[in-house]
Amino acid sequence: MPQADWQRTVWCGEVSEEMAGRNVTINGWVQRVRDHGSLVFVDVRDRTGVVQVTCDAARAPEAFAQARELRSEYVVSVRGTVRRRAPDAVNPKMKTGAVEIEPSRVLVLSAAKTPPFYIEENVDADELVRLRYRYLDLRRPDMQRNLVLRHRFVKAVRDWFDAHGFYEIETPMLTRSTPEGARDFLVPSRLQPGSFYALPQSPQLFKQLLMVAGLERYVQIVRCFRDEDLRADRQPEFTQIDVEMSFVTAEDVMTQIEDMIATALRAVGKDVTTPFPRLDFATAMARYGSDKPDLRFGLPIVDVTGIAAQTEFGVFREAVARGGVVRAIVVPPGAALSRKDLDGLAEEARSRGAKGLAWLAFEADGLRGPVAKFVGGAAAALQERLEAPAGSVAVFVADEEAVAAEALGHLRLVLGRRLNLTKDAGDALLWVTDFPMFEWNAHEGRWEARHHPFTSPVEEDLPLLETDPARVRAQAYDLVWNGVEIGGGSIRIHRRDVQERVFRCLGFTKEEAQAKFGFLLDAFEYGVPPHGGIAFGLDRLVMMVAGAESIREVIAFPKTARGGDPLTGAPAPVDPRQLEELGLRVEAGGPAARAAGRGRNGTA
Ligand code: AMO
Ligand code: AMP
Repeated sequence: MPQADWQRTVWCGEVSEEMAGRNVTINGWVQRVRDHGSLVFVDVRDRTGVVQVTCDAARAPEAFAQARELRSEYVVSVRGTVRRRAPDAVNPKMKTGAVEIEPSRVLVLSAAKTPPFYIEENVDADELVRLRYRYLDLRRPDMQRNLVLRHRFVKAVRDWFDAHGFYEIETPMLTRSTPEGARDFLVPSRLQPGSFYALPQSPQLFKQLLMVAGLERYVQIVRCFRDEDLRADRQPEFTQIDVEMSFVTAEDVMTQIEDMIATALRAVGKDVTTPFPRLDFATAMARYGSDKPDLRFGLPIVDVTGIAAQTEFGVFREAVARGGVVRAIVVPPGAALSRKDLDGLAEEARSRGAKGLAWLAFEADGLRGPVAKFVGGAAAALQERLEAPAGSVAVFVADEEAVAAEALGHLRLVLGRRLNLTKDAGDALLWVTDFPMFEWNAHEGRWEARHHPFTSPVEEDLPLLETDPARVRAQAYDLVWNGVEIGGGSIRIHRRDVQERVFRCLGFTKEEAQAKFGFLLDAFEYGVPPHGGIAFGLDRLVMMVAGAESIREVIAFPKTARGGDPLTGAPAPVDPRQLEELGLRVEAGGPAARAAGRGRNGTA
């Protein structure tokens, strides 16, 4: 097939001084038209950049007349001669700022309405409008950069896995419930009315079955679905880099996989040092009040329970007497916290369950603050334990251990931001290890798996399954980057008896376990290699590399916080005939009717 005469011979962003004098054709969108009377400047944009077309009424009257008709976002083909700009017209901020095109023909391939927002970097349009017109939003260079970055990163990930003997294998989207702790998205079956598929929350069980099948090393870049409350780093459908390996220990998974992460990050220009540091869960909770601590800065939490018990401060003494703890964070000198700041911090602490926030200022001539008079002789010991320099202020929470950790962990992040400790602080990647296997769900009065029920307990803790589940440690690990959980995995149970004991601990009867996971338990009777793996949140990884605030910035067509897509209008009611075929009926007055009264889409 012959080339059409309007087709590009060069990309806009690649027009350069070396091309001066050459005849070229560009294709793209009109970024901007500036009409200076007998001169019209048209900036034309494609995915590589922008180049200026300079139309002179005297030199090319026909092209000039065509150019005056152009509006923003028209799609054009421009043929013309590349020219060096006059020295005073050079724009050093533009990649193509030293050249321009003098057109011989300007052809409109498609006209455009005035877009609802200007197509430019750092647009400040409302996100709902951006999502409604996502195809316009994605014309913006920063969004294109994010998508290209994602492509490059995924390519590097696949290359690493290929070079290390992993096979990419697809697993079903229409399947049964896979418990990762969220609600399932259900798909009704037409052929078996009344039965439902669940969209996978992860391919967890299938990748384990692939290990039983002897595939040894599996990877999949795979969409997962979880019906949960959405946040900046959560989408109802998101992408995992999902991995499983046979005949490995936790150590093998962590060392090999951190090489994958470092290699793929390097491919997109991000240098991180391996091995990544490790921190056990108990220390992470005690020192940073979080299982995904942001280690770009210090501000550690310090336990002062023993000393606090010796003060005369009722709040401290009572908390300790009830078996609680007293913990503190030292805010360094120079933070200049006002009373109002301290009240604000107390409010932050209360928002995370603390009953209050006590504070002490360590001045050169002694303690200051409302609580100071109760500290008495314990002042020196307290200051030493806190390593609090003169001029610093310590803030204290006295409560049950979990509450103190949560509240101070939150305060630590608030302070890190307020004191600008995260800016230019580099990147902090770390493994968090030695998680407890179970978590008590006080609401439902039962144990839950912290990771998932297929995670293997630490061998020596197996006897505790029946006696003290709280103390059972899991062979699980999370990868954390600047306070964001980017991945998590574990060594799996590969023995039917152990799997059954864990199910029992989680409150499943034998029948329930068989009904839900019988296929896995059955497979466990046919020769199972020890195996383990991990899954990363690809969207989160790319968000971190891009320095974006939300994973929506690195997903072409994301959902809003209410799970809607303003572009297509999904989710939407369906034709009653479709429901009938599926044997379904939408209940009048049920949740669907209530939602209809609220309107469908909301933004985050
Ligand atoms: P997990 O549930 O920890 O583990 O998920 C792995 C990683 O996926 C990312 N992630 C999400 N990203 C965006 N939106 C969401 N709603 C969302 N939920 C999770 C996180 C998380 O670390 N099958 C196990 C893995 C394994 O054991 O191998 C699993 O899915 O970055
Ligand atoms: P109160 O005795 O309630 O007036 O509290 C005296 C001070 O101690 C106030 O500044 C409270 O914010 C603080 N406070 C109260 N409860 C706690 C707590 N559990 N931990 C730390 N400080 C607290």
